[in-house]
Parts: sequence; structure tokens; C-alpha cells
Amino acid sequence: MKNIYEPVTAEIVKVERQSKDVLLFRLRSKGGVPFGTPKRGMHFTPGQFMLAGVWGYGEAPFGIASDPYETEYIELVVRRVGDVTGAMHLLEKGDTMTLRGPYGNGYPLEFFKGSDVILITGGSGIPPIASLIRYIIHNRKDFGMVHLVYGAKTSAGLLMKREISKWKRKIDVTLTVDGPECDWKGKCGFVSDCLTDIKVNPANTVVAMCGPGPMVDSIEQLVNPMGISDRKIFISMERRMQCGVGRCQHCVTGRKYVCTDGPVFNLDEIDRNWD
Ligand SMILES: Cc1cc2nc3c(=O)[nH]c(=O)nc-3n(C[C@H](O)[C@H](O)[C@H](O)COP(=O)(O)OP(=O)(O)OC[C@H]3O[C@@H](n4cnc5c(N)ncnc54)[C@H](O)[C@@H]3O)c2cc1C
Ligand code: FES
Repeated sequence: MKNIYEPVTAEIVKVERQSKDVLLFRLRSKGGVPFGTPKRGMHFTPGQFMLAGVWGYGEAPFGIASDPYETEYIELVVRRVGDVTGAMHLLEKGDTMTLRGPYGNGYPLEFFKGSDVILITGGSGIPPIASLIRYIIHNRKDFGMVHLVYGAKTSAGLLMKREISKWKRKIDVTLTVDGPECDWKGKCGFVSDCLTDIKVNPANTVVAMCGPGPMVDSIEQLVNPMGISDRKIFISMERRMQCGVGRCQHCVTGRKYVCTDGPVFNLDEIDRNWD
């Protein structure tokens, strides 16, 4: 019988520095076997996560940042905060990592189709939103207006800048940093300040969000002024995880398991279940 906790070995084919403490890893499974079983051409649903690790250090969950239609590799964007991510940051091109997944539900793509989409994120919350944007661009005619609002404390903290500059040709992008900076040509202020500039048709708009913590805590203040109903607002939540498959209870909140019921929840569910 297959051991559900057994990871595959993935080779690092590219490492790209995104900021002082964030690296992007491009990973290919050994032997070139694609990750996940493809469904409608996609190897995962944007918003799903992988459990990635280093032998001897353990595993941690990471949202997948790459294009779900990509067959050759997946990309993870990893902020160095502790033991596992510290060990990952010592790895180089040609080294290996362990990988399990994809896990979790991902954003409800069919529900999003036909709507205007507002994507809201900050700091290292960009990976699952990046994957969702790649999906939307791949299927651009299925969506109305698409706005990305992405903020960070400083411009150096904005990740995936090269990709974002390409996305600007297909979707509307607002980048913002908390305070004024020399040479910064984007907006200054919080993400909430930029949202008021977007013309919203609440009846036909969905919202997709991903952390960081303080942004999640202020979700109601962020989205309430837009008048969009809670069931159309989706947010990817973070909880400490171990198994990733609904067995260990590490990620439980209220009646929900973040690893299997989430990590993407709508605001209605969060109100009823969050502790
Ligand atoms: C679904 C999901 C997707 C994620 N996607 C990404 C991603 O794309 N990129 C990324 O860099 N990180 C992501 N994270 C967070 C990442 O999993 C943690 O940073 C990682 O587990 C830290 O492991 P560590 O051993 O390096 O740190 P540890 O030594 O375990 O912890 C270091 C510090 O980080 C805190 N911490 C650890 N895990 C979490 C967590 N899940 N939530 C809040 N605080 C935590 C600890 O309390 C401690 O203060 C995601 C988490 C989840 C649940
Ligand atoms: S991480 Fe084990 S139950 Fe969710």
C-alpha cells in the first residue's frame, strides 16, 4: 500500500532571490514526472499548497506560485523564518528537496468565471495569487475586469516583480508601499487606500485574498466598503500544519481543517469557524 506521507524527491533547477529573506525555487521531480494528476490540463488548482522539506529538517506548507498548466516544474516562493525554511535557503541549483502534494482546495475557479476579479495581497502572500493570475491570463476571455492590488512595507519587499511587469499587459495592477521612498514610482499607503480607487460592480465581482496576518485580521475593514457579499470573498488562510491530509489535527480551527477544507475559505465560513 502506498504511504501517503512519502514525498517525491525534487531537483532544484533554478533559485532566484526575490528579497533579502525570500527565494523562489523552481523544482522538477526526479525523472521529469509532472506533479499531481492533471485535471482539465492543470496539475493543481491555484491556491493549493505543497509540503516541501529538507531531509533531517522536516517539512512546511507553501502555496504554489507557478502556472497550473506548466508540465515541467512547479515554483515555490519561500521566506526564511525558522528551521525548515532556513535549511531550504542553504540549498542551491542541483540540490534536492522533498515534496508532497498538491493539497487543499484552491480558489473556486468555476465560481469566478464570468466575474470581475479583485486580487488582494501583501508581502509573501503573493504565491497563490500569482498562480491564480497565471490561470486567469491563460483563460482571459472567461473573466471581466481583473485588478491586482499588492502591497509591502517597502519596495524591496515586493516579490515577483519581473512577472508582475508582464502581467500588467493583461490585467490592471496597483503596487503600493507603506511609506514614501526615493525612486518609487508606485503608490504609497496601505492596500485599503488603493481599493477605494477601484470602480466595483458588487453584483458581478469576486475577491481573492492571501495574507499576511495583519491583512487577514483587517479583512472586514478592507472589503466591506466595496459592498461585495461575504460568499464572494475568498481568502487563503495559514495555520501550522503537519500531515497536510486531515489526520493530525494540527491545523484545526473551529469545525474546519485548514489543510483539507481550506486553505481557501469564503468570508462566511471564516465568520462561523475561526477561533
Ligand atoms: C497553506 C499555507 C501556505 C503557505 N505558503 C507559504 C509560501 O508560499 N511562502 C512562505 O514563505 N511561507 C508560506 N507559508 C508559511 C510557511 O509554511 C511557514 O513559514 C513555515 O512553516 C515555517 O517553517 P520553519 O520551520 O522555517 O519555521 P518554524 O521554526 O516552524 O517557525 C518560525 C516562526 O514562524 C512562525 N510560523 C511557522 N509557521 C507558521 C504558520 N503557518 N503561520 C504563522 N506563523 C508560522 C512560528 O510561530 C515561528 O515564530 C504557508 C503556510 C500555509 C499554512
Ligand atoms: S495538517 Fe494534519 S490535519 Fe491538517
